[in-house]
Amino acid sequence: MKLFLDTAEIDEIRTAAGWGILSGTTTNPTLIARAGRDHEQTIKEICAIVNGPVSAETLTKTRDEMVAEGRTYAAWHPNVVVKVVCTPEGLAAGKILAGEGIRINVTLCFTVNQALLAAEIGAYFISPFVGRLDDIGEQGMNVVRDIVLAYRQQGVKTQVLAASLRHPMHVTEAALAGADVATMPFKVMEAMFKHPLTDIGIERFMKDYESAKAERAREEKAAARVG
Ligand code: E4P
Repeated sequence: MKLFLDTAEIDEIRTAAGWGILSGTTTNPTLIARAGRDHEQTIKEICAIVNGPVSAETLTKTRDEMVAEGRTYAAWHPNVVVKVVCTPEGLAAGKILAGEGIRINVTLCFTVNQALLAAEIGAYFISPFVGRLDDIGEQGMNVVRDIVLAYRQQGVKTQVLAASLRHPMHVTEAALAGADVATMPFKVMEAMFKHPLTDIGIERFMKDYESAKAERAREEKAAARVG
């Protein structure tokens, strides 16, 4: 499973890319607005840092508007994947763009049926939103698991991109559910590294190393005195 960041914050993307574990990025209109930056500028900057797919979401509602937007985005950089919403207009736009060789991420997916529709238009990614389903009392991860199963059974090539992940356990569960990609906020990716026993272990290794070194130095000094 590839790990993507779900952010428009350049510093976060640069940091995670430096860790050597970042395979792509997703953004959405909320994240772009929150970063307070120009959309085109932000996507181009992300593409310059991330060596992998960078999803940019269309901001219009009709098929033709989304097609025009998608073509513009795709011209920004070869890594751009155009995000369309899972509506008849969005999928119709996605179908046209996919036919032109532009990679499509179908977003705001909450059911297996929506994922099947995305597969029909040749989407590159389908993005089931786990956290938002959890928010309304459903088991969001079940949708990821079921989409993976349905796609496997049907021989669908569209990649399952588990989105709206809110905590590290979501990432573990997405991997176990067979997702191809997990996209997450920076704080979740950072938390993936963490375990108290790792910190305790590092401290103990360092302490052991330093005391053994000091002991050796003492022994060498004593041997030199005797000699
Ligand atoms: C994915 O592409 C979306 O941008 C994102 O994961 C949504 O997450 P949220 O439900 O936490 O806003």
